[in-house]
Amino acid sequence: MAILLALVLIIAISLNVLQHFLLPANRSLPPVVFHWMPVIGSVISYGRDPVNFFLQCREKYGDIFTIILLGRRMTVALGPAGNRFILGGKSTIFNAEDAYKHLTTPVFGKDVVYDVPNHVFMEQKKFLKFGLTGENLRVYVGMIEDEVHQYLQTDQAFLSLKTLSSDEYGSFDVLKVLEEITILTAARTLQGREVRDNLDKTFSTIYKDLDGGFTPLNFLFPNLPLESYRRRDRAQKKMSQFFINIIQKRRTSSSHGENDMISSLLGQKYRDGRALRNHEIANMMIGLLMAGQHTSASTGAWALLHVAYNRNVADSLYEEQLEFFCTKGGVFRSMTYEELKKLPLLNAVITETLRLHPPIHSIMRYIREDVLVPSSLNDIFTVPRGHYALASPAVSQMDPHIWKSPQTWDPYRWIDSDFVSSSFSGLKKGTESVFQPFGSGQHRCIGEQFAYVQLGTIIATIIREVELRRDNGVPRPNYQTMITCPREPRSIFYRRRTHQ
Ligand code: HEM
Repeated sequence: MAILLALVLIIAISLNVLQHFLLPANRSLPPVVFHWMPVIGSVISYGRDPVNFFLQCREKYGDIFTIILLGRRMTVALGPAGNRFILGGKSTIFNAEDAYKHLTTPVFGKDVVYDVPNHVFMEQKKFLKFGLTGENLRVYVGMIEDEVHQYLQTDQAFLSLKTLSSDEYGSFDVLKVLEEITILTAARTLQGREVRDNLDKTFSTIYKDLDGGFTPLNFLFPNLPLESYRRRDRAQKKMSQFFINIIQKRRTSSSHGENDMISSLLGQKYRDGRALRNHEIANMMIGLLMAGQHTSASTGAWALLHVAYNRNVADSLYEEQLEFFCTKGGVFRSMTYEELKKLPLLNAVITETLRLHPPIHSIMRYIREDVLVPSSLNDIFTVPRGHYALASPAVSQMDPHIWKSPQTWDPYRWIDSDFVSSSFSGLKKGTESVFQPFGSGQHRCIGEQFAYVQLGTIIATIIREVELRRDNGVPRPNYQTMITCPREPRSIFYRRRTHQ
C-alpha cells in the first residue's frame, strides 16, 4: 500500500512539474508560482512566512502572480498598484462575502457582516461607526486606565509587584497579558457593563470555544467532523443568546444612558425604516469582538516587546508621561482623549508597530467576474472568475525600496524622518497608500481610532507603573494563527517604579 501511494505521489509530482515547464503558459493569465505538489501548491512556503514568500515571488514574477493553496488559485497583487487593484475594486467583482463567509458566519452568526449582501453589510458598518464617536472614545480613556490599573494590582503575573524589592524583576508572558487586558478593556467600554460583569463567569468559556473556530484550519475547511467545530457551533448559539438577553433587558428598561455599542445599535434603522432585530445586534457584537480582540492584543504585545528591548524608547515614553501628566504633587493624573491623540512618541510607537507587525498579512476577495489587470500594474493579464485575489499591504510596509531599514523598529521615523514629512503625508490615505495596516477601500477598518485609544491607554498605564526590560531581542512572528503574533518565549521582565 505504501509503495502504491509513493508511486502515485511521484507520478503526480512529475506530471505537475512537466506541465509547469513543458506546456505553454497562457500568456493572458498571471504567472503561476512554481510548486512541486499539485493541489497542495505553495501552502508550506506561504504558511511559514507569507511576507518573505511574497517578496521572493516578486523578485521572480513581478508584482502580480498566482499561487496555488490547497486547490484554490490565489492571484496576489503587490505594491501600491496591487493594493489599489484589489482593495479599491468594485465589490461586485472583488467580493469579500464569497471569500470569508464560510469562516465568519459559523462564528458571528446569521444575517450580519458577510452573511448578508454587501450593501446590507455597508449599512451595518455605518451603524457600528455611529457607536465609535469621539464622545464615546472620550469616556473610554478613563475606563481603560482603570481596568489596566486594577489588572496590575490583582493579576497573578503582577502579584510580585507587592513583594519584590525595587531592584528585583518579575516577568510576564506579554501576549497572554495583552489578550486579557484587551478583552477586559473592550468589555468595559464597547461591549458594555453586562459583558464586563460576566467576563470571569459564563462569557469567557463561551468566548474561548468560539475563538477556537476562528483559525486558519476553519478558513481552509469550514466544516470538519471535529470536536472544536462542534464546540464552535454550540458557543455561537450561547453567545448570541447571551447578547440577546442583554438586548431584551435593555429594550424594556428605562435607562439608556450607556456609552456602549449596544446602546448605539438599539437606536439605528436601516434605510427602509426597519429597526435592527435582536439577533442582528447580538451577532454584530460578536463580529466586533472578534475583529478587535486579537488584532489589538497582538499589536500591544509587539509594541511592549520592542519597548522593553529598546530601553531608550522605554525611558522616553516614561518621560513623555511625566512631562504631560505628572502633577505638582508628583502623581500622575488621567489623560484626556485629546491629550492622548497628541502624544508624539506613544502614537509613533503604535504606528511603527503596525508597520512592522500588521496583524493581518493577507486580505482576500473572491473574483466574481473576469477582470483585466490595470495598466498601472500590468495591462496584459486577466484575472479569471473563480480565482481569489490577495492583497498584502504588509509587503509594502516592509518594502526596502520604500522604507529606510524596513526591518528595524524605529518609532522616530514617524516623528522626525524626512520620508514621513515629505512623501508620506501624501500617501497616508487611500487604496494606494504604502501604509495600510487597517486596510483600505470599502472594507477598511472602522476600529482604528478605538484601537489607538485602547492601545495608547494600555501602554501608557503600564509604562507609568512598571519599568520594562527584555534583553534577548524580539521574537519572530508566528504566521500559523489568523493574526500574526509573537512566537514564544515572549516574556518581558518588569520591576516596580520607585519614584515618579
Ligand atoms: C490594531 C487593531 C486593528 C487592526 C490592525 C485591524 C485591521 C483591519 C483590516 C486590515 C481590515 C480590512 C479587512 C479586509 O479588507 O478584508 C479591518 C476591517 C475591519 N475591522 Fe479592524 N483592525 C483592528 C481593530 C479593530 C477593532 C478594534 C474593531 C472594532 C471595534 C475592528 C473592526 C473592523 C471592522 C468592522 C472591519 C470591516 C470589515 C469589512 O468591511 O469587511 N477592527 N480591520
